[in-house]
Amino acid sequence: MHGPPVSQPATEEALVRRLRAAGCVFAEEEAALILEQAGTAADPAAEAERLAGARVGGLPLEVVLGWAELAGVRVVVEPGVFVPRRRTELMVATAVELGAARPEGPLVLLDLCCGSGAVAVAVTHGLGRRGRTVEVTAADLDDAAVRCAARNLPGARVLRSDLFADLPVDLQGRVDLLTANVPYVPTGAVALMPREAREHEPRMALDGGDDGLVVLRRVAAQAPAWLAPGGSLLVETSEEQEPTAVAVLADAGLDAGSRADDELGATVVVGTQPG
Ligand SMILES: C[S@@+](CC[C@H](N)C(=O)[O-])C[C@H]1O[C@@H](n2cnc3c(N)ncnc32)[C@H](O)[C@@H]1O
Repeated sequence: MHGPPVSQPATEEALVRRLRAAGCVFAEEEAALILEQAGTAADPAAEAERLAGARVGGLPLEVVLGWAELAGVRVVVEPGVFVPRRRTELMVATAVELGAARPEGPLVLLDLCCGSGAVAVAVTHGLGRRGRTVEVTAADLDDAAVRCAARNLPGARVLRSDLFADLPVDLQGRVDLLTANVPYVPTGAVALMPREAREHEPRMALDGGDDGLVVLRRVAAQAPAWLAPGGSLLVETSEEQEPTAVAVLADAGLDAGSRADDELGATVVVGTQPG
């Protein structure tokens, strides 16, 4: 994404044209967000130019702005960290519904492959609106993600861990909600992803191995040891992966099912620990 530099303070119209020329599909919305954010800076014109330049240079909008929204909640997104996708709102809504149905008392949420921590933030917020308190542990293998999640989750335990490897053992058998938005793009399909993702998100955040389900299988195999009776594991998949993912969770001993949202283009597979 390259375009001519904006040498004048960007008017909205000029900025829209520049963003569109650089290939931004939602140029109007992006221009409005950039100008709104620049308007809060000491020198709005210089800030607008800085933000526009970064966007036209190919950075994801959320990294340019420094934040993203998931399920109505704003989270910090730092460079090199996976940008939360709108489709993940289905996982958030499903987790909130399952959490709200759990017996009274504080809920234990474990967000694996947490990236920015957006899922944990949004689920905690949703459950808070239902009068539930949540004890949060979030973990990721990537240092940049752990740093970013720690900013978004003050008061939570945020750890660097290869899935469950370095988690506190006191969580075993206690987790009510285990959200794991694992990487699930098949290795061969990573090259087909939009340039923004390929160039600005770590491969580890995207590549789910041969069929995209390699990390998911590892999570499913260990999840039963960490879930409380009646607790649930939630994973996002593509529509094509759903039948295999349901079978993987069922093979792990969980009561498995799925739900989809066509508008969001989202599929979530849920496995609940019997008992
Ligand atoms: C698709 S992103 C999801 C991030 C976040 N949960 C969200 O929905 O915005 C997957 C994340 O999994 C992390 N990850 C990949 N393999 C991992 C592993 N073996 N252990 C822990 N985290 C891992 C990546 O670093 C990345 O942050």
